[in-house]
Amino acid sequence: MLIYGKAVSADAREELKGKVEDFENKYGRKPCLAVIIVGEDPASQTYVKNKISGCAQVGMKSLHYEYADGTPQSEIENTVASLAADDTVDGILVQLPLPKGYDEKKILELIPDEKDVDGFSPTNLGLLAMNRPRTISCTPFGVMKMLATTGVELAGKNAVVIGRSNTVGKPMAMLLLNADCTVTVCHSKTHGLAEITKKADILVAAIGRPKFVTADMVKDGAIVIDVGINRVDGKLVGDVDFENVEKKASFITPVPGGVGPMTITMLLANTLEAAVAKTQK
Ligand code: GUN
Repeated sequence: MLIYGKAVSADAREELKGKVEDFENKYGRKPCLAVIIVGEDPASQTYVKNKISGCAQVGMKSLHYEYADGTPQSEIENTVASLAADDTVDGILVQLPLPKGYDEKKILELIPDEKDVDGFSPTNLGLLAMNRPRTISCTPFGVMKMLATTGVELAGKNAVVIGRSNTVGKPMAMLLLNADCTVTVCHSKTHGLAEITKKADILVAAIGRPKFVTADMVKDGAIVIDVGINRVDGKLVGDVDFENVEKKASFITPVPGGVGPMTITMLLANTLEAAVAKTQK
């Protein structure tokens, strides 16, 4: 069976729209997300466009800052710092990766934890590690919502995450652990990868290599979540060899239309949460 992120996402956005309206009626302003992009990477440009249009779709305000590659680091830092100090801005997102030469860490450190709607800050990631989540990284958060739609009990299941990035693999592993799964994290240096993935009841692929996960690596009846978005000959392809793995999986996410739309929905949810949290200070 397919888990359509697009459909789950559409329902969630409809619900968000109502909550955003309630927020505006109560506080006299819309929740506001500021998005900063540097450079011309076409994939990043598309993601940012979708984030901006997602805001409009649920009735949120967005601010869009676009800088050419080569803009001085200090200019980006000044923008982030002024958004950090602006009370009408609830969330700040710097689209990653930044072009070569920028000090990403220095820029991200200027985003206050309260406005870190990506859930990338050491505090937000640390709180998740301690199972006291505040802002949860959007992609893994979306995956958990998609897993919930299967109705499958997660506790006690073997979950294998391929990929150990701070943005997806690590928070994904922590969320699954917090849901009482037995979690294994694999990566490019892992020995005997297929032996490990074959034991997975839940397999999350976040590698960034097209069709990396093949049918022989998957257990019969596994739930397979494909986080990959790779462009091959102008087509979007996931990290999973969908045509063949689909035959073995009990549930599987398609690419496109799977995890991608859900990520943006969780970003919108995180922005609303940040706006609400500010009113409760
Ligand atoms: N680049 C790819 N995915 C993401 C994301 O979720 N957030 C940010 N800031 N950059 C990204």
